[in-house]
Amino acid sequence: MTHDILFQSVKMGTQTLKNRIIMAPLTRLRAVEPGDVPTALAGEYYSQRAAGAGLVITEATQVSFQAKGYAGAPGLHTQDQMTAWKVIVDNVHAKGGKIVVQLWHTGLVAHDSVQPDGGAPISASDVDVGARTSLRDSDNKAIRVETTPPRAATLAEIEQVIKDFADATKMAKQAGFDGVEVHGAHGYLLHQFWVEQTNKRSDEYGGSRENRARLTLDVIDACVEAWDNDHVGVRISPQGTFNAVEAGYDEDDNIWMVEQINKRDLMYLHLSEPDWAGGTPYNDGFRQRIRAAFDNMIIAAGGYTADKADKNVKAGYIDAAAFGRDYIANPDLAERIREGKPLNEQQQHPETFYGGGAEGYTDYPFLAQKRA
Ligand SMILES: Cc1cc2nc3c(=O)[nH]c(=O)nc-3n(C[C@H](O)[C@H](O)[C@H](O)COP(=O)(O)O)c2cc1C
Repeated sequence: MTHDILFQSVKMGTQTLKNRIIMAPLTRLRAVEPGDVPTALAGEYYSQRAAGAGLVITEATQVSFQAKGYAGAPGLHTQDQMTAWKVIVDNVHAKGGKIVVQLWHTGLVAHDSVQPDGGAPISASDVDVGARTSLRDSDNKAIRVETTPPRAATLAEIEQVIKDFADATKMAKQAGFDGVEVHGAHGYLLHQFWVEQTNKRSDEYGGSRENRARLTLDVIDACVEAWDNDHVGVRISPQGTFNAVEAGYDEDDNIWMVEQINKRDLMYLHLSEPDWAGGTPYNDGFRQRIRAAFDNMIIAAGGYTADKADKNVKAGYIDAAAFGRDYIANPDLAERIREGKPLNEQQQHPETFYGGGAEGYTDYPFLAQKRA
């Protein structure tokens, strides 16, 4: 066995993960429209990866029709979606895996054609950062388009967003998920409130860092209320620019945010590191400060290899690593790492990341198999 430390079990709230190799949340844009219902193929895709991984985190999943920004992303707010997710969760559990659903509201990273009323998407303010999103062509393939300029959410809409996250959390529990991950990263709605670039509000959701953090923390509190602290985690991206939304605040503010999250005694903190997307890698000082500010499990993602995961777990900076593109291309990534076997890296096909069917989704070979 190689990288023994990654195969030690780890506590996630009241649960135990069998190892520290996690499938990162990966948007694949293959859900059925209208309705945003995950497919049976998604069940195969997740269960292929579930047996080996310590934890599977699903693709980002809408908490309402208004939360939708990408054609083909699934939701978890209707009965049909819940029923379809339940089948996927049952498949994952049958393989001995664990699965958490990542919940999002895309805010300004959206297009009026995927909004329920065909209107402008909401954000903290009406700041158009020039982000891009994906729609679908007639072959179900993703096509990149400019987002529709957003409008500022009213206080009533903010209250509704918080309630939608709580309701989706209740549905996640009903579907049998092992927890929920609040998507507070990558320039989506919660992040748009946190960042001064996109938050020009003068009410209790804008201005000071306390006010800009309020939506993220209100959402976390509502999810905890809907389930409990041991089944709610959060993902943040404290440095780097994603979706044209900059981190735009300093290290102290980020550490303060982690401290506020820590007070909630959550299942985990998931850090999306920026270097895979062209940002500056975290330095050890920042890693140490985050570790000191957070007591429970820390997961990190972003350009991780088994060696980087091993090193950062050994250093005590993180407890587990999440792998994105390597999990797309290697359904048995954990097994390959354990046995020191090469990865299917050369077979990654970015053109099949988003939209389409089985190709580049469920047809990546396991060890000793060849791609057809
Ligand atoms: C195709 C694709 C889809 C992604 N979708 C999501 C998502 O839905 N939610 C999220 O938080 N991050 C998403 N990410 C970021 C990944 O979770 C991960 O942080 C990133 O791929 C870096 O890890 P890697 O270097 O191991 O690929 C996505 C990345 C890729 C490549």
